[in-house]
Amino acid sequence: MLPLLAASLVLLCSVQATSGAIRSSGSYVQAAWYAGYHATVGYPLSAVPWDKYNTMYYSFATTNPDVSSLYLDASDASLLPQFVSDAHANGVEAHIAIGGWGGGIYFSSSVATAENRTMFAKTIIDFVNQYDLDGVNFDWEYPNHQGIGCNTISPNDTANFLSLLQELRQDPTGASITLSAAVSISPFADSNGNPSTDVSGFAGVLDYIAIMNYDIWGSWSTAVGPNAPLADSCAAAADQQGSAVSAVNTWSSAGMPVDQIVLGVAAYGHSFSVSPSDAFVPGTKALAAYPAFNSSNQPLGDAWDDTGSVDACGVYEGPGGTFTLWGLVDGGFLTPEGTTAPGIYSRYDLCSETPYVYNETSEVMVSYDNAVSFAVKGVYIKSSGLRGYAMWEAGGDYNNILIDAIGSVV
Ligand SMILES: *[C@@H]1O[C@H](CO)[C@@H](O)[C@H](O)[C@H]1NC(C)=O
Ligand SMILES: *[C@@H]1O[C@H](CO)[C@@H](O)[C@H](O)[C@H]1NC(C)=O
Ligand SMILES: *[C@@H]1O[C@H](CO)[C@@H](O)[C@H](O)[C@H]1NC(C)=O
Ligand SMILES: *[C@@H]1O[C@H](CO)[C@@H](O)[C@H](O)[C@H]1NC(C)=O
Repeated sequence: MLPLLAASLVLLCSVQATSGAIRSSGSYVQAAWYAGYHATVGYPLSAVPWDKYNTMYYSFATTNPDVSSLYLDASDASLLPQFVSDAHANGVEAHIAIGGWGGGIYFSSSVATAENRTMFAKTIIDFVNQYDLDGVNFDWEYPNHQGIGCNTISPNDTANFLSLLQELRQDPTGASITLSAAVSISPFADSNGNPSTDVSGFAGVLDYIAIMNYDIWGSWSTAVGPNAPLADSCAAAADQQGSAVSAVNTWSSAGMPVDQIVLGVAAYGHSFSVSPSDAFVPGTKALAAYPAFNSSNQPLGDAWDDTGSVDACGVYEGPGGTFTLWGLVDGGFLTPEGTTAPGIYSRYDLCSETPYVYNETSEVMVSYDNAVSFAVKGVYIKSSGLRGYAMWEAGGDYNNILIDAIGSVV
């Protein structure tokens, strides 16, 4: 592990801290999202290692056509109060995450006019007070950039989002809670759809952003690449699809101080169907970098993967193919210690600082994160002065292998 850490430190670009932070630099964030929908399928609240965290986001409350309410699944009505109570009993901030991939369809319409923003701000404050929450994590995917396919969308989304946040801060409750946003690797799209070059207004009202530096490569890509690359500047130009380092540089250049940037990290990976002739460097059993995969044959992921269903837009989607860390243990790729299982081929890519595993019989390759890649990300977060880390999702870890690796970096 030490040689890998040493090698990785050489790769890390130093990030210039932007001066003029408007909100005070707060405490180091050690966070994860808790998916309420996994409570009855293996990850009840009682399984949460609260002592590893100081912030937990409950996923999700979703946006509504009617701006005067947020939507919760029926099961959340009892689970969310228990979540808040368990978090508080453990000294952990309990936040609500609003939106998500399928839950942000009405963000745009909810902030489209001054009247709607005032009503939406009231809806959010009422929700915070009702559930005794300590913060709100906005997970709008994405302002003026279509995500799932049927989001309401407007060129004014980013400006309207900022106005909403400013209005929330005018409220005594809104002024006192932690406000954050889960964001893509590019700054919020401006009215032309390009990454904003000045997000300093957001730095003034958000405590921090959490950059979702995952799903950078997946089934939609042209080759098997890293789900959550730390860096990519040493990859071939075509393989530079984004990374933690480039995302932090882009956001901070646009005016988001690094101490208001939390790195989103992934407790899961993406699977691909790769023939042995593509998987290995010819004539060897060493795994090749960026191999081709069969996009007509998406492998099924772990027990939490969906075998196929209709999404929030009414469109049928096949398996996602994601494996949590425990899913990789379950699926025979990893040992219970989180190391490569006997009979499985592996590769640790020193450019992206992420591992791969491959089962030659099933022809399934997975790009994921392990203890080493999490520790290296932790070193980057600390050495660059970032605000902390947030893991999607708490329940993806196995025996705290990931959260201990990133949390032990001092
Ligand atoms: C404002 O919110 C209402 C629902 O509460 C919605 O019907 C309307 O379309 C929204 N306005 C805009 C301009 O999107
Ligand atoms: C965007 O905002 C401008 C100025 O506030 C307004 O004139 C325009 O109608 C808005 N556009 C849309 C699509 O809502
Ligand atoms: C890709 O997968 C599909 C579906 O399983 C299969 O029919 C096809 O033969 C595969 N293509 C290759 C090149 O292996
Ligand atoms: C690899 O995949 C095959 C076919 O699915 C399975 O039988 C085998 O157990 C897997 N290997 C390991 C080490 O899990």
